[in-house]
Amino acid sequence: MKLLITGGAGFGGTNFIKYILAKYPAWQITNLDKLTYAGNLNNLQDITDNPNYHFVRGDIADAEIVNKLLPNIDIVINYAAETHVDRSILDPDAFMQSNIIGTYTLLEGLKKNPVQRFIQISTDEVFGSITTGEFSEESPFKPNSPYAAAKASADLLCRAYYQTYQLPIIITHSCNYYGPYQYPEKLIPLLITNLLADQKIPIYGQGDNIREWIHTNDHASAIATIIEKGQVGETYNIGTGDRCDNLTMAKLILQLLNKDESYINYIADRPGHDWRYAINNDKIKALGWQPQIELTPGITNLIQWYQDNKWWWQPIKSGEYLNYYNQQYGNKK
Ligand code: TYD
Repeated sequence: MKLLITGGAGFGGTNFIKYILAKYPAWQITNLDKLTYAGNLNNLQDITDNPNYHFVRGDIADAEIVNKLLPNIDIVINYAAETHVDRSILDPDAFMQSNIIGTYTLLEGLKKNPVQRFIQISTDEVFGSITTGEFSEESPFKPNSPYAAAKASADLLCRAYYQTYQLPIIITHSCNYYGPYQYPEKLIPLLITNLLADQKIPIYGQGDNIREWIHTNDHASAIATIIEKGQVGETYNIGTGDRCDNLTMAKLILQLLNKDESYINYIADRPGHDWRYAINNDKIKALGWQPQIELTPGITNLIQWYQDNKWWWQPIKSGEYLNYYNQQYGNKK
């Protein structure tokens, strides 16, 4: 099986590539990644020499490179995206370009170069916020941030290209994921790395916003299940039911690191901040998938990972990593 993973030097893509190479050692992986600020080849150091892994630096919005790679591919998994809500509020441009035009370029590429499956990695944030109950695969899109609107737009393009051109597309909507190699601007790695550096942790508003969490290994196994058993033209929610508010998450991490609540710094809320995400996972469970990693042991092991891998995150936090890559490639902000 030949896979094209887009955005494979980012957090989700990195963890998926490692999961696949371990589970299906004969599968061949091409990783197409633009290496934006969040793409980091250090993530992949341990597999660079694997003969079944091949890195190509490039943009999914570049039709030339897409059309060059696709003829040799069976399955495309589109992890490439700008994903940080706060950045999308400050500067939405890159989100429109990568998330919408990038996905559109891949879909156009599929018309010329047929593949067996195209799996769109998307988010529960396309549904907006839900006060009680759960989003299903049929819930309407009501995105509240430029990021979520750009992902929703890409998902709608995927749907249209399935309906109009019968391309073999499957769309997935995942809850928030956590795991190794997550850029330390997102809540969980930000909290852990700040506390490991003995710094305070910023919590928006009262910290009562609720998120549903999945470990990257469980997300990767969900995508592997969809590759094996998912139906073309369908949408699958990927969730665990593990929901907690941000303050509870902060207190868990503080407790695991033996720190008290004086480290919490309550700051002004994010504009348009979604209050609660919760998704129903019955449909993917019916394919035989189950999440394996519960939240508390998952976070406990993750803290250990950040403790053991300071080489990875300290240069990112200090700016040293960005300076290095700007010298090498000159395109990171
Ligand atoms: P984030 O990791 O940015 O993911 P998303 O907004 O896509 O769900 O944020 C998770 C939650 O944590 C969200 O409710 C916003 C909150 N948050 C903070 O309270 N402080 C922070 O510094 C960050 C980055 C997020």
